[in-house]
Amino acid sequence: MRVPLLDLQLQYQSLKPAISAEVAAIMDSQQFILGPKVEAFENAVREYTGANHAVGVSSGTDALLVALMALGIGPGDAVITSPYTFFGTAGSIARTGAEPVFIDIEPDSFNLSVKKLAAYLSTECKTGPGGSLLSRSGKRLRAIMPVHLFGLCCAMDEIQEIARTHGLPVIEDAAQALGAVYPSKAGADSRAGAMGEFGCFSFFPSKNLGAFGDAGMVVCRDDAMAAKLRALRNHGMEQRYYHSMIGGNFRIDALQAAILNIKLPSLDGWSAARRRNARIYREEFARRGLDGKLGLPVETYAGAADENHHIYNQFVIRAPRRDELIAHLAKNGVGSAIYYPVPLHLQECFSSLGCRPGDFPESEKAASETLALPIYPELTPEQLRYVADVIAGFPGFLIGE
Ligand SMILES: Cc1ncc(COP(=O)(O)O)c(C=O)c1O
Repeated sequence: MRVPLLDLQLQYQSLKPAISAEVAAIMDSQQFILGPKVEAFENAVREYTGANHAVGVSSGTDALLVALMALGIGPGDAVITSPYTFFGTAGSIARTGAEPVFIDIEPDSFNLSVKKLAAYLSTECKTGPGGSLLSRSGKRLRAIMPVHLFGLCCAMDEIQEIARTHGLPVIEDAAQALGAVYPSKAGADSRAGAMGEFGCFSFFPSKNLGAFGDAGMVVCRDDAMAAKLRALRNHGMEQRYYHSMIGGNFRIDALQAAILNIKLPSLDGWSAARRRNARIYREEFARRGLDGKLGLPVETYAGAADENHHIYNQFVIRAPRRDELIAHLAKNGVGSAIYYPVPLHLQECFSSLGCRPGDFPESEKAASETLALPIYPELTPEQLRYVADVIAGFPGFLIGE
């Protein structure tokens, strides 16, 4: 049996007639840049997330970049995030000229550690001119960028509280978490992206809501910021050919927006199927006595938030002899991947930050122990059982005992 890490064909086939008709209509209209298709998708995401505004952009990375630009973040500034994430998180901070400041993760959720964030702000930061908070290297702290990794929300109540105390806006990197729900203590459950000042989504094809190419979205609370985002994604112009600020071409394609708008009503069903697959894995692993040998993803908010407490963009486990297990899976036709093999503080391009191995031990440990298993919605119970069988037959468990 073959179980690829991801197979987008089945999802595509189920929506092919509707998507083909929509694409043909856009071709006939020859309207490719912004316009009604983009507006319709922005409205749909705004309603879905509960945010005040939604602005379509060219990718998840550009969503982060344009949010940072809207806040005027640049050289001399610093933005806090975690080092165990996709490169685009810290890459977007660095591209503005600001410095990424890394805070380690919680080992169970892989998300930013609230305790370490609080400790960093209270013991390692200095107060600068005008009461501003300075990073260890003397840069002005301007924002916190928590990442809802693999589809599970960060501890947002605590992060928001800390951010408020220090007057820092929160930019949620919700690239992997569209639809994930957080049980806010303030009352109603909140959707990823709609809790901070900004929320940034990616529609990279492997995301739960995937485009036919690159696309992204920023949601935000504030009217003036939304207007700024709209201008920034279009070279900083509000009136055609008059540029009050320097933006870029960060526009979402009308074709991508139209395709995503057809897919959006299916998103919750797909995420539910991913959760069902996660449950089957847990049951099958337990049946084979593997639950004590593997580290399985935590479901921090199960029971407390609504059904979308985790949307499982990835099902990431910890395993002993990880690289040998990956080879064993591949030999038996099972796809897997490492998200992410090198934590960002140890990336060559960030060497000027002066970080060393050992600085963020939980991120380094995760990078050396984790692997993602197939979790896409269309997997069958037989395929999931086969993956469990293949893992149970991994000789590395015996060697490790
Ligand atoms: C956590 C995280 N941040 C940012 C991004 C960047 O999104 P994109 O690939 O659409 O630029 C991704 C997507 O891969 C991501 O997973």
